[in-house]
Amino acid sequence: MKYTKALVVGNWKLNPGTSIEAKSLALAIKKHVAKYKETQVVVAPPFLFIPDVARNLTKTEVKLGAQDAHFEERGACTGEVSPVMLATFGVTYVIVGHSERRALGETNKQVNLKIQTILKRKQTPIVCIGEKVRDSQGLFFNEIEEQVRSLAEKLTPVMLSRIVIAYEPIWAIGTGATATAEDVKEMQLFIVSVLTKIYERKVAAKVHLIYGGSVKSSNALELYQEGGMNGFLVGGASLQAKEFAAIVAMTLPKEAKK
Ligand code: 13P
Repeated sequence: MKYTKALVVGNWKLNPGTSIEAKSLALAIKKHVAKYKETQVVVAPPFLFIPDVARNLTKTEVKLGAQDAHFEERGACTGEVSPVMLATFGVTYVIVGHSERRALGETNKQVNLKIQTILKRKQTPIVCIGEKVRDSQGLFFNEIEEQVRSLAEKLTPVMLSRIVIAYEPIWAIGTGATATAEDVKEMQLFIVSVLTKIYERKVAAKVHLIYGGSVKSSNALELYQEGGMNGFLVGGASLQAKEFAAIVAMTLPKEAKK
């Protein structure tokens, strides 16, 4: 069931190469999604390009995201960027726990601390979870359960209602191997069932879930209609404005009803 506006987030990762390209990508996305007001669109450029992209996202509903943030607001944390700093540039969404960050050592515990700091700043954390591989016994569900339980630690029901959980199976990221709509639906039910062990049913059922992993305009409609999640976290396809806008279009209420 879809309770809130769909959310489509473009995670630009380590792209594009220059600030000029970042600005023109932001402008192109702004233009192509201008008429899709029923879905919330977010772009998450590399930190360095955030100020320039912010200047190009005026007079638009497109929101600015960051790809990570530290859990401390300030202090002796060399090389880090805090949610407070990001807020000064208008960043309202922050991705945490992306598998590409977890591969560099980010732990469930750190992800949980980041969520708390980001919520304190009234920004929206987009918390990534996902299994490395799928085994025929379904042991990968244990990995997901551990990630869900850990992200929810110390989160009140109100805090849970303010986060977005992005299910991104690692084997589907950048590989072209998308999870099927059935896989996504099964995982939506599973994540809600884990949350139901921690929160009341109606609180758990309302959590905002999105899917990521090789989403393209060609598979987005089926994933959206049948996957039970309310939006997408898009990597590669978010670097082409038209393709990204076409994915956004698939989440519009009238498209999704077809
Ligand atoms: P791709 O869409 O390139 O598979 O990347 C998904 C992703 O990791 C978004 O955060």
